[in-house]
Order: sequence, then structure tokens, then C-alpha cells
Amino acid sequence: LERTSERLVELAKRRGYFFQSSGAYGGVGGFYTFGPQGASLKSNVEDAWRDRFALEEGNMEIDAPTIMPEPVFEASGHLDTFDDMLVECPDCGESHRADHVVEDNTEYEDAESLPIPEVEEVIAEYELVCPACGAGLAGQAVEAFNLMFATNIGPGGAQPGYLRPETAQGIFVEFPRLKEYARNTLPFGVTQIGRAYRNEISPRRSIIRTREFTQAELEYFIDPETDEPDLEAVEDVEVTLYPAGEQAADDGEEIRTTIGEAVESGTISSPWVGYFLGVAKPWYDAVGVDMDRFRFRQHLAGERAHYAADCWDAEALIDGSEESQDSEQRESTESSSGYWIEMAGFAYRSDYDLSKHAEHSEDRFTVFRQYDEPKTVERATVDPDMSYLGPEFGGDAQTVVDGLETLAERDRSAFESETVEIELEGETHEIPLEKTGFAVEEQTEAGEHIIPHVIEPSFGVDRLVYTVLHHAYREDEVAGEERTYLALEPEVAPTFVGVFPLQNDNELEALAEAIAADLREAGLAVTYDDSGNIGRRYRRQDEVGTPFCVTVDYETLENEETTVTVRERDTTDQMRLPVDDLAKTLSALRTG
Ligand code: GAP
Repeated sequence: LERTSERLVELAKRRGYFFQSSGAYGGVGGFYTFGPQGASLKSNVEDAWRDRFALEEGNMEIDAPTIMPEPVFEASGHLDTFDDMLVECPDCGESHRADHVVEDNTEYEDAESLPIPEVEEVIAEYELVCPACGAGLAGQAVEAFNLMFATNIGPGGAQPGYLRPETAQGIFVEFPRLKEYARNTLPFGVTQIGRAYRNEISPRRSIIRTREFTQAELEYFIDPETDEPDLEAVEDVEVTLYPAGEQAADDGEEIRTTIGEAVESGTISSPWVGYFLGVAKPWYDAVGVDMDRFRFRQHLAGERAHYAADCWDAEALIDGSEESQDSEQRESTESSSGYWIEMAGFAYRSDYDLSKHAEHSEDRFTVFRQYDEPKTVERATVDPDMSYLGPEFGGDAQTVVDGLETLAERDRSAFESETVEIELEGETHEIPLEKTGFAVEEQTEAGEHIIPHVIEPSFGVDRLVYTVLHHAYREDEVAGEERTYLALEPEVAPTFVGVFPLQNDNELEALAEAIAADLREAGLAVTYDDSGNIGRRYRRQDEVGTPFCVTVDYETLENEETTVTVRERDTTDQMRLPVDDLAKTLSALRTG
């Protein structure tokens, strides 16, 4: 196997990290099961995320259902616009993402932003072929394919529902209640870690693009006029940025800078996005993403989701080293020098989502913004009771009142002549001014109701787990033998310490089991292993990335002070430590 990714997928299956699901039935593309090691690694990564983005930041965590009714996705825009471009091969019948086919085989970098007819033209012009069988795709219709999985809620099909394509909507729809828990005070953040579902046209690269995956999302609600992030806390964080402008330029280059400078210079236009990039970078470092293979890339205009005003991705380089990487390579480009994958998106979602849910539902998605001092404002009003208006003025009286009220708010000049012209249900009506009761009054107001803006750091947990494993993958030679090991950070490694008796000997085994129990009691993840020779047991733990192994040998029994051998995974260095403070010493090593 040539590439690290191929060897990693093999190791992942062999050692219980992840493997394709439903294998007994032939498996189905885009669904993976995390095995015993993978499930622990994933849950450790999620805990680390929760610690940093929920607890340390003081945000609230919720857990919403994964199925939601259709009106939610009508409002959010997913029903209409959460599409990918699909092209089907006329020969083998395989479906592909048309924009990927274009990007992989032409100089187009942002094919997602092209309208469908243009993508069809490019396919014909470049005589692009099916990536699976090589048949020509020219003349094939490209269609918009909605990525949501549809289902029915209850029997009878009367209530359509969808599996959520992002955890975010579960937070947005509950905003009217969540703001109460935040005592109606901005800013506040709500997090959620959970499954999201997308019927990807072509799932690929094992757990990198799947149809069911886990997201860890933070929706941070702010008043865009008054709230500012604590930039000082992150201003010195050094980052590699790849802004959209640079990508468009022929000689586009990544920029090495600090968060403080990038926000100051406007490279990162939203200080809030800058703040969260600054929080994320050291966190990624701590869970084991290699910082030489990490960058933030700004979305190109056509790449942005329907809700995003600006978006930066956290990207990791797979199968390549930073030096050999051509910075223009994209996820879609297969190459021996590697490819970048998107691990997280940091989007400025403005008031898009809350405004849409306010429009489509009966609930209140606003927060009261208190003025520093009460303000005197002019309010234009109309007579709220116009029941004496006959049907000749159009529709029922309430429709007329509503129409006039809206008009008075938006355009006072409409009330400057003898008659007021108003459009109701497509028809223009003229109403005598004196009948409207139009008046301008001064009012004192303590504040106003505003729809908060949202900053969204959205992490893909599966891609992060993949990257952590990939960047930890090492091969070396120990005592003339080849060895594979995972240099996982102790904080996320599924097993922290392996405990072995040197040989099958009752006394050694009893002591080793007692030590394992002690270490478990101290809260460490322990594996006890007494099968096979000691070298094999070390290799097994190296391959799953266990940072330390403790061996109970005859010296342990003979010495006056009971000591054991502790072996460190990466260096294979061994030292003797007293059993008495073993739990304490190892616990200190876990937290660094
Ligand atoms: N709420 C915002 C949102 O969903 P996104 O960029 O579409 O934004 C966020 O998704 C993250 O979810 C991505 O950065 C990626 O890590 C992960 N993700 C998206 N689609 C995925 C898929 N098909 N398989 C695995 N992870 C995926």
C-alpha cells in the first residue's frame, strides 16, 4: 500500500478504529462503524471539544432530535437550496457530482458556483468522462439533487419529515426558549454534538465523506451593533490563512500571520470569526492535528452555503507534507503530494436563520436591546378601527388597517396628499387621508426588539478523528524490526496504558491485575494483556496508539521497593518506577 491513507484504513479495520458498516450484507457506501478503539477516540475528541467550546466558553449544550418536520427545512432554505449537482453516466449508470468532475479535470476551481447549463457546456467542451468507467458525459443532463434524507412522521405519510442535514437547525428552532435560559441577554452560545445526515452523491475517502456523520456545532448569538469578542485572548495566535482573493490570483499564496493582525488588516472581516479561529487553532493542536499540515481557507463566493455571509474552513493536509504541497490543490485533486480536507467551517450566518424561522413560525426570535438611555422617537400611526370603511376600499377592514400600518412605518410620504394609495392583494386602492386617522406621535422607548446575528463554528467529528489518526501515523524500525505506531496525544488516545505480566506466572499475573485495577480506579483507560510474547504485546499497543505500557517482571517481585517497567510509546524508552505512586505519575503524564 502506497499512501498513508491506504495503510491507515487497513490499520483502522484491523485494530478496531473504523470499518464499513453492514459488511455482512455487502456494505453500503457512506456508512461506517467506529470499532472499540474508534468509539473511544471519537468520544475523547468530543469530550475535549465540549470542555473547550461549551464549558470553558460558558456556553449551553443541548441535545435535539435528528428528525424534524418539513416546515423547519422550508424555513431554513434546505428544502429549496441544499443541493449538489448530479450527473449520471449513460453507460455504467454511476452518479457523480458534476462540479467535482469539472474541478478534477479542468482549470475551474469553483464549479459549484456555476449555473447548471454552464456546467453542462463545460462537460461537453472538455469532453469530460465518467470517473468510474470512462464513458463520455457530454450531452448528459446535470440536475440539482437535494441532499436531505426524507421520511414520514407517523403512519399515513401525512407529515413529511427529514433527517437533519446539520445539527444547527435543532438549535435555531428552539431559540425562543433558549434565550429565556440565557435570561434574554446577548451574547450567548449554544452547542450540540450529534448526528447529521446527507445523502451524498458520491461518498468517498472512508470516513471523510459519509452519509451519516457527527457534527459538533456552536451557534453563538450576538447583537452585531454592541457585542465584541475578547480578541485580546487570541490576538497572538499564529495562523496560516488562505484568503479567497489569494485563491483567485494566479500566484495565490498562503499568508502566515496572527489573528490580531488578520482582523486588524481586514483579511478576516468579522472579529467574531477571528476570535473563534483563534480559539480553534490551539485546540486542534492539543488534540493532535499537525500544525504544519493545517490552515484556514476562506470560502470562494460560489462555495458558501445559502446562509453564510462569510466562511473560513479549518483544513488539514492528508497524504502529503507541507513542503511538497502545491497550495492550489483542493480536496477534489488527487495527487501524490496530498490533498486538503475541510475539518470545520466558521461561518458568519448573520440573522438569516432566525429571521427565516420568525417569518415562517408564530414564535418570537428576537431579543430586547435596551438603550443606554431611553430614546424619544417619532411613530407614525393609523386609526386601528376602520370598520366603517366599506368593501369599496378593498378587502376586509383588518387587511386595510394592516396595509396602512405597514405603509405608515415604511413610507410616510404616502400620507402627504389628499388620498392615500395602497396596494392590497395586487390591486391599487385610494383611501381619503382623513379616513386613515394618520398621525405622527412622539414616544419614549427603552429599547427595541432585534434579531441576533449568529457566528457558527461547525466541526466535523469524523473528519477530525480521521485527521488525528492520519497525522499520528508513523513507521520506524525498532531493534531491526519494522514497527507501525500511532503517536496519539495522551488526552485522546483510546487506551492510555497497557499493563502486562512479563510471563504467564500466577504471581506476576496477580500483581499486574492488581496494578491494572488501581490505575482504572484512578480514572485511566487501561488494557490488561497477558497473551503472546512481550514484544508482540508492545507492538499491538503501539498500533492502537497507547502512550504507555507497564510490565510486571521478576525484578518487581524481588526488589524491596516494588517497581515496574514503564515503556514510552514513541521513543520506546523504558524506566523503572515505584508502584506506589504509579497512578499519580501516569495521571500527571496524561494531562501533560
Ligand atoms: N451547520 C454548518 C454546516 O453544517 P458544513 O460545512 O456543511 O456546515 C460542517 O459542515 C462540517 O461537517 C464540515 O466541515 C465537515 O467536517 C463535516 N461534514 C460535512 N459533510 C460531511 C460528510 N458528508 N461526511 C463527513 N463529514 C461531513
